[in-house]
Amino acid sequence: MHDGPHDHETVLEVEAPRVKFGRGAIAEVGPEAAALGLRRVALFTDRHVGRLPLVERARSSLRAAGIDVAEFDAVRIEPTDTSFREAAAFALDARVDGYVSIGGGSVIDTAKAANLYATYPAPFERYVNAPLGDGAPVPGPLAPHIACPTTSGTGSECTGITIFDFEAHDVKTGIASRRLRPTLGIVDPDATRTLPATVVASSGFDVLAHALESFTAKPYTQRLRPLTPQARPLSQGANPYSDLACVEALRVLGEFLVRAVEDASDDEAREAVMWAATLAGIGFGNAGVHVPHGMAYAVAGLVRDFVPRDYDVDHAMVPHGMSVIVSAPAVAKFTAIAAPAKHRRVATLLGADAAHDDEVGDALAGALARLMRATAMPSGLRALGYTDADVPALVEGAFAQQRLLGNAPRAVGREDLTALFAAAAAYW
Ligand SMILES: [Fe+2]
Repeated sequence: MHDGPHDHETVLEVEAPRVKFGRGAIAEVGPEAAALGLRRVALFTDRHVGRLPLVERARSSLRAAGIDVAEFDAVRIEPTDTSFREAAAFALDARVDGYVSIGGGSVIDTAKAANLYATYPAPFERYVNAPLGDGAPVPGPLAPHIACPTTSGTGSECTGITIFDFEAHDVKTGIASRRLRPTLGIVDPDATRTLPATVVASSGFDVLAHALESFTAKPYTQRLRPLTPQARPLSQGANPYSDLACVEALRVLGEFLVRAVEDASDDEAREAVMWAATLAGIGFGNAGVHVPHGMAYAVAGLVRDFVPRDYDVDHAMVPHGMSVIVSAPAVAKFTAIAAPAKHRRVATLLGADAAHDDEVGDALAGALARLMRATAMPSGLRALGYTDADVPALVEGAFAQQRLLGNAPRAVGREDLTALFAAAAAYW
């Protein structure tokens, strides 16, 4: 039992992922796998990424290190419980002792799930976040996993989180455990040269949202202290360590995001955005995101017929970063009054100024909308095919994300979500 001032959290935990960053880093995947004692790895990619020279360099590096490779390129973009199960079945069958994933967040997340279910087979719901799943802890360490992102987005190489579309429930949810964090991230910006503008923009806004939400999350000191040290969650709320990474990520994005989207040959800008993605991954891996991501899982899960430009997909889907950023300006206005100083800092880093506390939300929302417009993002939910009639279903989907909503700097009820989805219909 705690009482008095000890009811509140006073301790933060720093989880620093191991990351290699820089051009040419992918060539070190073989020696790194060998150093981890691996002999036969499952290599996860998707059909598009699998054809990139970067993946060929990884294959030859693994071969040169004497490591067998079983390749799985059937990763679904925006994975589902079904596609996770298929990937786990492949990994079990292939009798591998480690994992290498090369691709966007979908690929890295699929490798995390395959590693989990191949190492500790269980009914699928067992490890899935409550309330949709049992939220059971991962029983022990997983096999080593080297994650190599090819989009400057998710930061999944830094986190212990994997996200998927739970088909039976029509909503995105995830599995969260320190054990899911890759053993090593190898971030080689070379891959970003071939990325189409829409992919850079969408994944770039995912990065921006990670940094914005982690920085403005409810501070860890406003949470209740967990009953045991082991119960301290991975997403512990805003804290001085994640703030460092988030501020720098936002500064870099404010300077380079538009350039990186506009010009594929702008190596400096594309490398900078990739670095921001890694930093933001460190930030949100330690703090956690909140309302825009909670709303995004409903937006992505309820998609009807939106098919994005520049994505190699044969099904309707809203790219993750797009599904997040369409709500971010509306949420910024809503959360700014709870943490005006932090929102002002973000607005400044993105090139907007606000003199008074009651102007901060509008200033930040305006800065976000300007960046979205400059990078040809949808102007809001209407551009993704949603109408007012969809709001109740969107609200229910977002309201189910209590873990994320609880990380917001102020309480978020159904009526708030209704107003937020309405405000996110169109920004210009
Ligand atoms: Fe995200």
